[in-house]
Amino acid sequence: MRIGMLHSLIRKDEKLLIQEFKKKSGVDLELIDDRKLKFNLGKDKDKHKYDAIVERCINHSRAYHSIRLFESMGITCINNTKIATICGDKLLTSVALEENNVPQPEVRVAFTEDSAVEAIEEMGYPVVLKPAVGSWGRLLSKINDRDAAESILEHKTILGTYHHSIFYIQKYVEKRGRDIRSFVVGDRCIAAIYRESEHWITNTARGAKAYNCEVTQEINDISVAAAKAVGGGVVACDLFETDNGLLVNEVNYTMEFKNSIDTTGVNIPEEIANYVINAAEENNG
Ligand SMILES: Nc1ncnc2c1ncn2[C@@H]1O[C@H](COP(=O)(O)OP(=O)(O)O)[C@@H](O)[C@H]1O
Ligand SMILES: [Mg+2]
Repeated sequence: MRIGMLHSLIRKDEKLLIQEFKKKSGVDLELIDDRKLKFNLGKDKDKHKYDAIVERCINHSRAYHSIRLFESMGITCINNTKIATICGDKLLTSVALEENNVPQPEVRVAFTEDSAVEAIEEMGYPVVLKPAVGSWGRLLSKINDRDAAESILEHKTILGTYHHSIFYIQKYVEKRGRDIRSFVVGDRCIAAIYRESEHWITNTARGAKAYNCEVTQEINDISVAAAKAVGGGVVACDLFETDNGLLVNEVNYTMEFKNSIDTTGVNIPEEIANYVINAAEENNG
């Protein structure tokens, strides 16, 4: 069986994943570096012969476009184009969650400074403004009053690209100093961590502390429902705890797990490798 691993840099996550694939007999893992990759549309099917490709790019656009091209050659990709499209865009994720009745914080969308201020005031402060495409807690703004709203919207409009004027506005959730990152592989939530910080942004990339979170039935159910809403696959959900239950903040499709293996005691890369191998077998069978 030939599995391709599409990657940019080989980070610790990729190293761990490679190790797990190497442990499997009958699996031939080939590394595909997105910095060297070239496609010859419609003519290079024979050059890319894989039973499945596991996508581990750092950059969303490269991931998404490569997956699309590989799929057009009939190759199963984990994750697939649908998942990459939806998870790569917070607005599309919110739409998918809404359509599938998965609870999330209140969201409003507007395209001009004036309509965005109106939407924010209808919602009530504080709100969080985020780029629809982005990660690692970058360029998020918590807006507490109208002065800040006007200023941030103006900065985004004048200094940002067109994409920064698709205003994705979320109600700020009082989340008790932490959120939950849950890991879903197929139809199971395999592990979860709490991410705790004094800052309202609790990404571990921004210094939040991680500790194990028991996967309760509620965490499993909402995580799997969120994963299903975006198309299934291997994803990581950000969940907020509220008095009215859990809310899904976002769903990530090229999940990072290196700091969550010891914390949770779950071999996350092994679970991913098994899932990919299974998908490749199904594809062949
Ligand atoms: N609406 C919100 N209310 C409270 N905290 C939020 C909200 N949105 C984001 N955060 C905090 O910011 C972090 C990063 O936001 P997120 O939407 O997950 O973007 P990213 O893709 O950058 O991880 C979250 O993990 C959470 O700690
Ligand atoms: Mg996040």
